[in-house]
Amino acid sequence: MELISNPTSDEIKKAAKALKDGHLVAFPTETVYGLGADATNEKAVSRIYTVKGRPTDHPLIVHISSINLLDKWAVHIPKYAMKLAKEFWPGPMTLILKRNDLARDFITGGQDSVGLRVPDQSVALELLNEFEKLGGLGIAAPSANKFGAVSPTTAEAVEEELGNFLHRDDLILNGGQCAVGLESSIIDCTKDQPAILRPGAITYKMAEELVGGIQNKNSTQIRVSGQFKSHYSPKAIILLDKKPEPGDGFIAMANIQTPVGTIRLGSPSTVQEFAKILYNALRNGDKKNLQKIVVVLPTSNGLAEAIRDRLIKAAKE
Ligand code: TXA
Ligand code: MG
Repeated sequence: MELISNPTSDEIKKAAKALKDGHLVAFPTETVYGLGADATNEKAVSRIYTVKGRPTDHPLIVHISSINLLDKWAVHIPKYAMKLAKEFWPGPMTLILKRNDLARDFITGGQDSVGLRVPDQSVALELLNEFEKLGGLGIAAPSANKFGAVSPTTAEAVEEELGNFLHRDDLILNGGQCAVGLESSIIDCTKDQPAILRPGAITYKMAEELVGGIQNKNSTQIRVSGQFKSHYSPKAIILLDKKPEPGDGFIAMANIQTPVGTIRLGSPSTVQEFAKILYNALRNGDKKNLQKIVVVLPTSNGLAEAIRDRLIKAAKE
């Protein structure tokens, strides 16, 4: 495995070629780092599952360079879904749509829907464009972490987590720290009305203002790995809004004082910054071998809902 920092256009071309040849390429997006494979190559995609240790009936998101490729992967696209795509792509939003023939069972986990996203990150978009020039149609990429663990928001975190499981010809592209820091919002667009399955930086309010009639999340049976118990989880036990003891890790907004004897892992000034630093703060807690990390949850709406969603899942046993 080779880690390439601040990749040049030639290095991104090389990465696109590696994908086309069936190798894995971890790459930055604005949300978290993804572990990419050619979404039409069953063998390459199966390696994603091996490397992550992820159950094979778990669907993957297909990343595309623009809305123009939507028809290749999806059919019966509702008007509201087109509206969401036009407004929020490239961006931190995944749409679940009825699949076209190209989206085979090894991508969708056997479901008749497919998850699609145009990421808003320059390296990711260049990689997608170069891949498409070589005849590629989409890059399947889950977050580049072990199944159930915290998503990586830096290339170093990808290397630490998956480096030992990648092969010689696989690549990690280092594009710096992810700007958002939490996984994309997932919106189910397979029904008459949209439904939010995973909250993210495209918030309920943003989507509702654009298309209206959005259902509450978790109202469907569609499988989203974030809905499993204990997900997005570091080794340390996560305690929410509890009184910390000396020796515990502590994450809270900057205006909240550090309790005596605790190890401050994060003090963001805004909710955006909270999302951006959260996963690295949790990883740092594990590096320091902390047993417990206490987090004071942000209380506002919008992005704070996504932060609470991930932390509540991380705190589950
Ligand atoms: O921000 C993100 O979405 C990142 C970056 C790399 O794009 N990707 C990501 O992938 O978080 P992953 O696999 O860790 O989480 C994607 C979620 C999974 O929980 C999966 O179950 C769900 O999307 N998903 C994918 N296709 C689906 C489908 N057809 N129906 C329902 N859920 C689907
Ligand atoms: Mg994930």
